[in-house]
Amino acid sequence: MKLLIINGPNINMLGIREKGIYGDESYEALLRYIAGICEENGIEAEFFQSNHEGAIVDRIQEAYGQVDGIVINPAAYTHTSVAILDALKAVSIPCCEVHLSNIYEREEFRHHSFISLAAEKTFYGEGFRGYERAILYLKDKYSY
Ligand code: DQA
Repeated sequence: MKLLIINGPNINMLGIREKGIYGDESYEALLRYIAGICEENGIEAEFFQSNHEGAIVDRIQEAYGQVDGIVINPAAYTHTSVAILDALKAVSIPCCEVHLSNIYEREEFRHHSFISLAAEKTFYGEGFRGYERAILYLKDKYSY
């Protein structure tokens, strides 16, 4: 099974940005964590991070027919991006949404997610563990 792991804007600043919300660990540490889970489960992982909405749309389109699932933390684009929602719907690749923080306990503008309309499941407020839960969900449902 092959999964594409997409992280949106400012996720590359983990360990520096708002540590009280996102913790001390870096983006590189997140990649190592996810790579370890994928290795343990015999999953091939591709990683993509971008601060640009169109680049994320392009990457989702490129994944068409190439991967079995997408795990996406769209970061701030969660709350604004119809383009990312439409790209996920266009490729119809099974998708899970992840947020490190509990978006429902934060500012009201974070309570709405466009991406949830394309995601089978959303995991939030569990830090890195949310990515593990998303990966295992897709593995259990779609690995062959
Ligand atoms: C986030 C939550 C978003 O509201 C925020 O814009 C982010 C990260 C999270 O992982 O908790 O950048 O997606």
